[in-house]
Amino acid sequence: MDLYQAIVRRRSTRRFREEPLPDEVLDQIDEIAAHVQPLTTENRFRVMRRDVVSGEDLIAAMGGYGRVVSPPHFLIGYIIGDRAPLVDLGYRMEQIAVRLVNLGISTCFIGSLGRENDVRVRFHLNRQARTGAFLIFGYPADSVTGRTLNAVIRTAARGSNKLPASEIFHKGTFDQACTPPKELNRVIEAGCLAPSANNAQPCRLLWHDETLYLFVKRENSRYGKTVSQDYRYFDAGAYMANMTLAMEEENMLGKWELLKTSNLGIPDHPETLEALAKLRPR
Ligand SMILES: Cc1cc2nc3c(=O)[nH]c(=O)nc-3n(C[C@H](O)[C@H](O)[C@H](O)COP(=O)(O)O)c2cc1C
Repeated sequence: MDLYQAIVRRRSTRRFREEPLPDEVLDQIDEIAAHVQPLTTENRFRVMRRDVVSGEDLIAAMGGYGRVVSPPHFLIGYIIGDRAPLVDLGYRMEQIAVRLVNLGISTCFIGSLGRENDVRVRFHLNRQARTGAFLIFGYPADSVTGRTLNAVIRTAARGSNKLPASEIFHKGTFDQACTPPKELNRVIEAGCLAPSANNAQPCRLLWHDETLYLFVKRENSRYGKTVSQDYRYFDAGAYMANMTLAMEEENMLGKWELLKTSNLGIPDHPETLEALAKLRPR
């Protein structure tokens, strides 16, 4: 499987086989986590791998929604830094998720935004550490009931309804969404397949002056109220990671550049959108 196939095949899995992964696979995962690409080197990133204690209810302990059954392991990634920390975290954690799928391992993010303090206390993290979401992983349950449960929960989380690229991509102005040009299509499709909390899919793209601008919707009803609205940043990072990995597979060059609101030259856009980053693919 190449990484593009892994992006396409990745699905949030909620029911796992109980047995732990072999040690050599866990070592490979540690290597993957250690070599993930940063969105910005200004932030410090670390990942801790933990085994799930039998019977432990991770969702109850650390936030999130829904139900997961017997994940054997999870990763807590955290960022310390001021430069778009949740975007950078989503960017790095999604690279890990895709590379795990490439090893035949299933994953699911479990959001912890409302519970970041509890997570810091539990894992003895610095007060500035942003955790956003943790990543459970293992082999998927392969029994019929396991597969059915995964499909049912995914449908309940509306994970199977992904917006097509033609509703995300805009050319020149935000007047009307349209189909991306052929040379960008696979890369943008990869972004559209990214996971997002409650499948909110907050990202929108604008092609302007040979540059792709990434925006997020400021308000997303699927996230709920208060701090959960910040999932848009983590989700945008995951979206950008999928696009970066797809560009690698397509032998395209280009690097995401984070935008500041003070940046001159951000193209006109509706007030409901917030500009996060730009990319000049070549
Ligand atoms: C930041 C984040 C938090 C998430 N939190 C949860 C969660 O708490 N419980 C859950 O079942 N799924 C969670 N998910 C998975 C989403 O529901 C899933 O990505 C979405 O429905 C799309 O489905 P897919 O990942 O299978 O493509 C989360 C995903 C992200 C990116």
